[in-house]
Amino acid sequence: MREQFEEVLLEEEQIRPRVSEIAARISHDYEGKDPLLVCVLKGAVFFMADLTREITIPCEMDFMAVSSYGTASDSSGVVRILKDLDATIEDRHVIIVEDIVDTGLTLSYLRKSLSARNPASVEVATLLTKPTRRKVDVPCLYEGFDVPDKFVVGYGLDYQERYRNLRFIAALPEGKL
Ligand code: PRP
Repeated sequence: MREQFEEVLLEEEQIRPRVSEIAARISHDYEGKDPLLVCVLKGAVFFMADLTREITIPCEMDFMAVSSYGTASDSSGVVRILKDLDATIEDRHVIIVEDIVDTGLTLSYLRKSLSARNPASVEVATLLTKPTRRKVDVPCLYEGFDVPDKFVVGYGLDYQERYRNLRFIAALPEGKL
């Protein structure tokens, strides 16, 4: 599998300790607050699974699915909720769990949408961020790694639904797009 990628950006051995660090920070920051972690499907599933298993305080999980009206590799900022949360988040401490923040448009929409439901707080944990692509500034309290402006796949991230199951994160060569 590895040969077909331009470059492996993050090995499993680099991802694991960083996820543990973020989990430790969340466990410290949210002690006594019973946070609700909201996984944004599908890309964040592995980050969510690994992160929550490293969190050492009581917490809950919920899932949302959203779809951007933009093209496959470029989001437009117009977001449709395909699957909403199962429960109300009023007075809850919410942590949105994302795999990647690219333009920031999806997250900006999500933050606004969840903030309007009167939670106690809303913060963001993202494994990856592409700062050079940002169109809107969205505060992310927990960030794993900066990645260059390349098409990245693996550890939940896909290209046309493929490669999500890679244990590492790699850049797909231009020719493959
Ligand atoms: C990705 C990612 C974020 C969004 C980031 O989701 O999970 O939700 O794009 O892009 P933005 O910052 O430019 O808005 P995608 O639409 O690829 O869906 P998926 O997680 O199901 O693969």
